[in-house]
Amino acid sequence: MIANIVQMTHLLLKNHLSPGSNVLDGTVGMGNDTEFLAQLVGKSGTIWGFDIQEEAIISTKHKLANFQGTLHLNQTSHANIDQFIPNMPCLDAAIFNLGYLPKGDKAIITTAQSTIPALEQTLIRLKVGGILLIAAYIGHEGGYEEYQAIKHFLATCPQKEYHIAETQHINQKHQPPRLFIIERRA
Ligand SMILES: C[S@@+](CC[C@H](N)C(=O)[O-])C[C@H]1O[C@@H](n2cnc3c(N)ncnc32)[C@H](O)[C@@H]1O
Repeated sequence: MIANIVQMTHLLLKNHLSPGSNVLDGTVGMGNDTEFLAQLVGKSGTIWGFDIQEEAIISTKHKLANFQGTLHLNQTSHANIDQFIPNMPCLDAAIFNLGYLPKGDKAIITTAQSTIPALEQTLIRLKVGGILLIAAYIGHEGGYEEYQAIKHFLATCPQKEYHIAETQHINQKHQPPRLFIIERRA
């Protein structure tokens, strides 16, 4: 249930989403999170997905071949969310699983330069009660800097508008990823 960050994010998404929900996957990668979202939102749901790598878009399209809901997959940076998702509180949940594509090119990583604008554009689109989950990996080069920038940014978000928490496994070897959980409250 909480063995790793993926299990934790999926537990939160499962508790939160239902058929017809609207969701965003800010980094689709191999499509594992997107596939999980698809199962939860069903044929009346809508998914927006972003990734800069063609390989990621192809893999995600393949994984969601049988999805009957509405799927908007965009091969572009999540910093361009403004161009693709309506500018209104329309999201029930969003997930950003940061870092690099496992088994892919480890030099292509998310960075604060695009992640922070993407988070800003996501936060204003969360419905009241909507959640944003950010899995930040700190073990690779550049990962800790991105994590710090995200934490700094989130700490400045108004408490009246968002509940924001950070969790981490405290008895795992190496450098376990951190999970930021944001809930829109007003
Ligand atoms: C850890 S992987 C995502 C894993 C994915 N959620 C899954 O379930 O398979 C991180 C992804 O972020 C993507 N990425 C890097 N920079 C990006 C950006 N600016 N906008 C969108 N995606 C980006 C990478 O191409 C990579 O596929």
